[in-house]
Amino acid sequence: YLYSLAAIVAAYLIGSLSFAVIISRVMGLSDPRTYGSGNPGATNVLRSGNKAAAVLTLAFDALKGYLPVLGAFWVQPRLGWGELTIGLIGLAAFLGHLWPIFFRFQGGKGVATAAGVLLALNPLLGAATLATWVIVAFFTRYSSLAALVAAAFAPFFQLLNWGASAMVLPIGVMSLLLVWRHEGNIRKLLAGTESKLGQKASPAA
Ligand code: G3P
Repeated sequence: YLYSLAAIVAAYLIGSLSFAVIISRVMGLSDPRTYGSGNPGATNVLRSGNKAAAVLTLAFDALKGYLPVLGAFWVQPRLGWGELTIGLIGLAAFLGHLWPIFFRFQGGKGVATAAGVLLALNPLLGAATLATWVIVAFFTRYSSLAALVAAAFAPFFQLLNWGASAMVLPIGVMSLLLVWRHEGNIRKLLAGTESKLGQKASPAA
């Protein structure tokens, strides 16, 4: 139990690295928490107009979900971890992104990090969920709606294709939290005021 607990804490700390803030700072851009949606995530960094910064944010926020799960699979044979432990390690990285210890617990919505976790937990599930995001984003241009639809589908993809394994639990929890963090986006989508992908920032709401 000690090792799994240590791994969960480590994953949480890695997840706490808010790359939207870190990368913006390194690249000399303004803090993403001060413009657009105010969310420290790739979608909002894109509103700065700097595509490279947005792509880097997406990549690093995804990696911080991907790598802890990959590491967990790596040591699994030696430590005898089950699917639930590995899923919880992924969930811990996701929780770090939502409530980062290094950023006053004010994090993002978890889309990129969840994608990284899913890709590592089950590459086919990750690919199917990403494809869902891409299709919805392509047709609607709403990043948030794409994330909401993809998150709604992910636990069912896992359940229907790979059965009721223990992995469904952390995946379902991630989806629920992701949807809950998009409450403001859901309101804007319903009101027709949500900004579309590629639209530049207006001052933070
Ligand atoms: O990545 C989060 C995305 O789904 C919504 O971001 O900035 O439009 O609230 P944002």
